[in-house]
Amino acid sequence: MDDRIKKIISEIDGFNAVTKEQVEIFRMKFLGKKSALADLFAEMKNIQPELRKDFGRMVNELKIKAEEKLNSFAGILEAGSDSGESETTDLSLPAEPHEPGARHPISIVRRRIIEIFSQVGFTVADGPEIEDDWHNFSALNFPENHPARDMQDTFFVGGKGGGISPASNSQDMALRTHTSSVQVRIMETSKPPIRILAPGRVYRNEAISARAHCFFHQVEGLYIDEGVSFADLKQTLLYFAKEMFSADTKIRLRPSYFPFTEPSAEMDISCNICRGKGCNVCKYTGWVEILGCGMVDPNVLENCKIDSKKYSGYAFGMGIERITMLKYQVKDLRLFSENDIRFLKQFVSS
Ligand code: DAH
Repeated sequence: MDDRIKKIISEIDGFNAVTKEQVEIFRMKFLGKKSALADLFAEMKNIQPELRKDFGRMVNELKIKAEEKLNSFAGILEAGSDSGESETTDLSLPAEPHEPGARHPISIVRRRIIEIFSQVGFTVADGPEIEDDWHNFSALNFPENHPARDMQDTFFVGGKGGGISPASNSQDMALRTHTSSVQVRIMETSKPPIRILAPGRVYRNEAISARAHCFFHQVEGLYIDEGVSFADLKQTLLYFAKEMFSADTKIRLRPSYFPFTEPSAEMDISCNICRGKGCNVCKYTGWVEILGCGMVDPNVLENCKIDSKKYSGYAFGMGIERITMLKYQVKDLRLFSENDIRFLKQFVSS
């Protein structure tokens, strides 16, 4: 028996470990459930009673020795884990791929819209997403009972909607329902000529579906100067459509109504998917609507202390999601806010 224990002692003494794996082999061999030590403990009951005490002492000493050795390995590995591991690291292996992020499609299109309009003199303006009644509705000529003011469409922040009052007296704050509010802020604080583009997030109390969301993005455009005409608006929007989609894109303007423009129009482009032949995106009409526009209503100019006898201007507003869906043929609006990497990484930007 002594011999067996001596043999195990010399094996423990002679064992050298430099890696975690080797330490684990040591632990299993000498201290694990199926180790030599476990066998010795199991044998204890078969030993003659008068020898059992001595045997037990030797086996215990052996266990302590094995544990001390194991502890010494832990020390070596902790202190020198770098050197231990580097010996087993194959530096010739290819590195883990490091995937760079990609711009969100909404960002790509927003940047492109800004780029296109900045080439004809528009600069970017900004406004708050939490807006008062004056900037979001009243100054823009919304009648007091206009449905857009209703709780159905607007997320109010405290209080209930309604009532025309200047900003300082306004009780109601809301998440802006459109970026047209930035028009008002800019007209109130600057003098014509004004030529701005206001991109940003807007909110509406809508049920979420493939075609509608409770938040989305718009770009508002505004140009105020002496002698600005509807023809200027039309030419600028034609230029935009050709740059954004393709040089052969056509536009058409249909009469429409917005409280803040007079006359008002909605603009369609020739369907960029079927090239006017008819498909389910353009519902077989050959045309798809992309924005609303018009000449700024003189009431709005006056609300913002701009002389409507001297100045005129045009405005337009478009949904960035809408343009993106048409440009990239995305069929479900919800994809833009789900952050699914498989969707997002398909978009390439410069
Ligand atoms: N604010 C409108 C909307 O959210 C879009 C719009 C239409 C903006 C006509 C304009 C405009 O500036 O002239 O639906």
